[in-house]
Amino acid sequence: MNPRVLSGIQPTSDSFHIGNHLGALQNWVSMQSEFECFYFIADLHAITVEQDPAQLNQRTLLAYAQLVALGVDPKKSVLFVQSQVPEHAQLMWVMSCITGIGEANRMTQFKDKAAKGGSSSASVGLLTYPILQAADILLYQADAVPVGEDQRQHLELTRDLATRFNGRFGDTFTLPKPHIVKATAKIQDLQDPTAKMSKSSPSGCINLLDPLKTTEKKIKSAVTDSDSVVAFDPANKAGVSNLLTILSAYTGNTVDELVDSFAGRMYGDLKKETAGAVLAFAEPFQTTVNELLSDKAQLQRDMNIGAEQAREVASQTLAAVYAKIGFNAS
Ligand code: TRP
Repeated sequence: MNPRVLSGIQPTSDSFHIGNHLGALQNWVSMQSEFECFYFIADLHAITVEQDPAQLNQRTLLAYAQLVALGVDPKKSVLFVQSQVPEHAQLMWVMSCITGIGEANRMTQFKDKAAKGGSSSASVGLLTYPILQAADILLYQADAVPVGEDQRQHLELTRDLATRFNGRFGDTFTLPKPHIVKATAKIQDLQDPTAKMSKSSPSGCINLLDPLKTTEKKIKSAVTDSDSVVAFDPANKAGVSNLLTILSAYTGNTVDELVDSFAGRMYGDLKKETAGAVLAFAEPFQTTVNELLSDKAQLQRDMNIGAEQAREVASQTLAAVYAKIGFNAS
């Protein structure tokens, strides 16, 4: 049996951006050949901050359609929506009862998010977000979790809670390892190439579902530098290096090959080719997403099947947990 991986993404935007794609989702797709994969849309996590209900509903469908269009294959992987699998919330309750308040308070992402919104407006859900994440992972006995730097502390907490539960009640959970992918591209903001690409900076962020003209414009107005040599040097030429990284990812050419091909050419050419490469990916991607969205009933049926497959595994873990802690099984 292949080792099992699990990962989730929140449905909190109208489109994935190329940082999501190249930094994480491309990797979800390629892992399908070597791992038994469980992927889900983390709508329970999304509501830790206020969401508009109609928008959340639509964004969940959009996230599902985009994942399929990117190559997450529901025949190879279990792809599901978190709220359709009630075991996540159920296991989270149990795990929250073995988590210290101090332990939860130490999570840096909570501190950051709470500080941003003003800590008095932060919800209890935001505080317990990492415990829900631990439940997500432990329910499926995942061996590995592909995570970025920002999620590493949550995975550490997951391992701590699993170890604690196993120690107190007997071996129940697999200890998940972080799966760090060396080859993933780090994509920076087009307007501030020293910062990671993020939806909070719209003009520096390329959304896969943006109108093609918008994407072209954003790439053409990307910040470069006052030099004129196309070279890969992220410390001194962050903007140009970022464009090279993007171009490389969407053409399959290595950065070295690209740098050679731009010898004696200008930044304008680099932007033009980068825009061309991104559009060549985005255009058919958008067609597929639109096709999938045109049959919402079918999408919903596929989601239901994914949720059933997820529950087969999740319900077994939850039953084992309930028995171990002394709940009277039916
Ligand atoms: N917190 C993750 C993020 O924002 C999303 C997530 C929720 C997740 N549950 C997970 C990722 C379990 C990996 C495993 O990116």
